[in-house]
Amino acid sequence: LSKAAPFQDLSLIPPEQGQDKWRWLYSELRAAILEGRLRTGARLPSSRNLARQYQLSRGTVLAALEQLRSEGYTDTQVGAGTFVASSMPDRAMAAVPRTRAPQLPESRANISNRANHMIAGVRMLPPSRGPVGRAFRSYEPALDLFPVQLWARTAGRVLRHAPRALYGQGHPSGYEPLRKAIAEYVGASRGVRCTADQIIVTAGAQQALDLVTRMLLDPGDRVWVEDPGYPGARLAVHGAGALAVPVPVDRDGMHVDFARANAGRARMAYVTPANQFPLGVTMSLARRLALLNWAVAQDAWIVEDEYDAEYRYCGRPAPALQSLDRSGCVVYIGTFTKMLFNALRIGFVVLPQRLVEPFAAARSIVDRHPPTLDQAILSEFISEGHFGHHVRRMRQVYMERLSVLMETGRRHLAGRVDIQETAAGMRTIGWLPSGGSDSDLADRARAAGVELIALSEFTMRHTQPGALILGFAGCSPAELRRGVGVLAKAAA
Ligand SMILES: Cc1ncc(COP(=O)(O)O)c(C=O)c1O
Repeated sequence: LSKAAPFQDLSLIPPEQGQDKWRWLYSELRAAILEGRLRTGARLPSSRNLARQYQLSRGTVLAALEQLRSEGYTDTQVGAGTFVASSMPDRAMAAVPRTRAPQLPESRANISNRANHMIAGVRMLPPSRGPVGRAFRSYEPALDLFPVQLWARTAGRVLRHAPRALYGQGHPSGYEPLRKAIAEYVGASRGVRCTADQIIVTAGAQQALDLVTRMLLDPGDRVWVEDPGYPGARLAVHGAGALAVPVPVDRDGMHVDFARANAGRARMAYVTPANQFPLGVTMSLARRLALLNWAVAQDAWIVEDEYDAEYRYCGRPAPALQSLDRSGCVVYIGTFTKMLFNALRIGFVVLPQRLVEPFAAARSIVDRHPPTLDQAILSEFISEGHFGHHVRRMRQVYMERLSVLMETGRRHLAGRVDIQETAAGMRTIGWLPSGGSDSDLADRARAAGVELIALSEFTMRHTQPGALILGFAGCSPAELRRGVGVLAKAAA
C-alpha cells in the first residue's frame, strides 16, 4: 500500500452471525493496524464506503472509527480522511505477526472470539534474560540483595511445622493470617481502611486487574485510563470487553477535569496515584478528591494500583486514595512482586465490603484459592518483621542508587538525556531535550548492551516529548555507571 492510499482491497473477515457489528468493525480494523496490514500513515476508506461495502449503518462505522481514534490508532484530518496514526509505537506493530491464521500455532486456531479479542495486541512478557541487575531494567527490584537464606529458613520452618490442614483446601480469599498481616500493613503504612475479610490474595497485581475488570465491567463499558499508562491495566480492560479511554496525565496525575469534559461517561477509572506509571508523578489531593466526587456522582469504580508505593525517598508519603473513600467506590490493588521478588507472584485486592462475597465466589471458580503454603511463608516473613526490615533497607539502597544515576547522568548525559528528579519508585525518566525518536535511541542503546524502554511505548493518544524509562533500583552503582556510559555513546 502506498502511504496515503485507502485500503479498499483489504478484506475484513465478515462478522459472525449475531456478532455486534460495531465491535466487529472496530476489532477488524484494529487487528489490521496491529498486524501491519494497515501501515502507519495509510488512509482508511471513508465511512460512507465502509458502510456501503459491509452493509453497515453510517453511525456504526463512525462509532468504530471514533473509538480507534480515541485509543490513538488513527488520526483524523478534517477534509482529508482518517489515517493510521504516525505516533504509534512501531515495535507494538512489529511484535504482532503480519498475517493471522497461517502463523498461529494449531493449538490457538480454534479459540473463542472472546479469547481472540482478549489477546489481540498482547505481547507475551518473556522471562528476564541476561544477568540480574542489568542497567536500566525497571521491572525487577534488587534481587541480588534479597535475603534468600532468611527466606529459605522461614520457608523450611513453615513447611516442616505447618499443620496438615494447611496441606488441604484453602480459603478462596486467601490464607487468613496473611490477610490479617496485609490489612495491618496497608492500614499502618498506606492509610488503607480495611479489615482482613476485605482482602483477596491474588497472583500478583495482574490477576487482581483481570479479576477486577471482569467482575466490574460489562462489554462496551468505558474506562478512563492514564495516558501514558500501564499496559497491563489497559489490556485487562480490553480483555474484559470494555473500552480503555485515554486521559492525559500532567504533574498532578490523571487530568480529571479534562476527562469529565472530553472523555465521556465511564464505569471505571484506573489510576496509579502514589507513583504514576510511567511518569512518576504523585496525584494531587485536589485531583484525588475530584476523581472521588466524579465516581460517587456517576456510581463508577476507581481502581487504585499501588505497585511500589513503599519506595518514597523524600517528602511525606501521601496516604492511599482509598483512605479518602467514604462511599465504597475504590478498589485498591497492591503487590509483593516489587517489594520482595518477582517470582513470588503474590498480590492482593482490598475490596469495598459490598464486593467481598461476589469476588470470593468468583475466585473459587477461577483457581479455587491461592497456594496456601507460599502464603504461609510470606505471612511468617511479615510477622517476624523481616518484610519491614527489608523494605526499609531497600529504600536506603535505592535512594543511593538513584543519586548515583542522577550524578553520573549529569556528568555524562548533559544536554542529551535530562534525567528527571524523582521522589519515589524504582525508575525515573530521561527526557530527550533535542527531540528525536525515543524508540530509535532505545533501539541503539539496547543494541549496545543496556535495557531500556521508550516512553512512546506507553502512550496511547496524548503524545509526550521523547523520553526513556530508566530503572535504577535493581542495578548496582557500577552497573549504573556502565549503563550511563553506553547510553551516552548511543545518544551522541
Ligand atoms: C503500574 C503497575 N502495576 C502493577 C505492577 C506489578 O504487577 P505484578 O504484581 O503483576 O507483577 C507493575 C509492574 O511493573 C506496574 O508497573
